[in-house]
Amino acid sequence: MKRIKVEIAPGVETEFVDRDRALAQVVEWAEKSTRWPVVIFGPEGCGKTAFLRQAASGLRELGYDVFYLHPLDRVFSAEVDDPDVKSLFADLVRKTLEDERWGRLALAVFDLTREILKKRRRKIAVIADDVFQAIGLDKAAAYVKGLLNMIEHPVYRYESIVVLVATSEGVSRSEIGRHRWADVMPMWNMPREGFQQLYEKLPGPNPPFEEVWRWTGGNPGMLSRLYLTSWNSGVVVTRLIREKRLTPDFVARWRGWLEKAVEDPEALWSPDAPEELIKQLVERNLILYNIYERQQIFWIDAPPPETDPELGIGRNVAWQTPIHREAVRRALGAPP
Ligand SMILES: Nc1ncnc2c1ncn2[C@@H]1O[C@H](COP(=O)(O)OP(=O)(O)OP(=O)(O)O)[C@@H](O)[C@H]1O
Ligand SMILES: [Mg+2]
Repeated sequence: MKRIKVEIAPGVETEFVDRDRALAQVVEWAEKSTRWPVVIFGPEGCGKTAFLRQAASGLRELGYDVFYLHPLDRVFSAEVDDPDVKSLFADLVRKTLEDERWGRLALAVFDLTREILKKRRRKIAVIADDVFQAIGLDKAAAYVKGLLNMIEHPVYRYESIVVLVATSEGVSRSEIGRHRWADVMPMWNMPREGFQQLYEKLPGPNPPFEEVWRWTGGNPGMLSRLYLTSWNSGVVVTRLIREKRLTPDFVARWRGWLEKAVEDPEALWSPDAPEELIKQLVERNLILYNIYERQQIFWIDAPPPETDPELGIGRNVAWQTPIHREAVRRALGAPP
């Protein structure tokens, strides 16, 4: 599979690095089709968007007609052989960019694939990145059901079909997981060796890799943020405290539990841990809760280790990155 170009920071272009297992999974889906829509979730900045873009390109290479939707970045494409469908899609994108009715575009994919298949049997891929925010969380499950229908009850037959959806939205996971309409799969930060390859693409001077690993836990988005502040982790933490609304009020309300969770996130797995706090931490994308068994089959790419206290990974609960944990620690008033 040809590797796409990605930007790890403005002006720093690299090719898509590592994630070999995830790419092998794409090839497998391409061969067998996805039985359900695959809904991918994981820490913010772990590389979901980069992976979906790489998957879109790879599937095209494997002979697929590919629809790609990423409303948050205003990127839409129909890499399809049928010129009529291509121009229909382009018209719709133009209109949607004017009036911002993203839902219409997301739904148009259903009609357009039908249009393509009417003419002849083909391989079809629909790749939707962060569409739930655009169409509304309340419609997320219905949209996934629509995608499932496309797989299960197509009006015209396809040769094979791959449907991939990513969400960085902590809540949508449970919203979608409640139904049996999707294969909900987690993706973790990058494994150490792959992450090191990425780190080495960054023009220096840079701190030693070991240090960067301990801050980021292999999260490429966090790598990029640190790089852009010239490795001023204090600034990144300060911004995160604001973004995650770690206000004095929030901290005062949950101090006891937060102090425990900073020491060991698994504390939140205890039966008396307050549900409201867990919900808040998930919604704010600070932790991953109820993490899957670490068997390859459940994961996009390699699963995280069973536990890694230094990186804040517990068996069932993990901080998204060590910097996320650090933001909470600092909000609690601990010295850096
Ligand atoms: N395998 C990779 N090789 C090279 N760069 C990568 C890779 N994965 C991610 N990146 C880069 O790391 C940054 C964060 O990745 P990306 O935006 O894909 O994460 P994300 O999980 O989609 O984040 P969000 O939760 O914010 O949507 C981007 O600059 C992206 O280009
Ligand atoms: Mg993304």
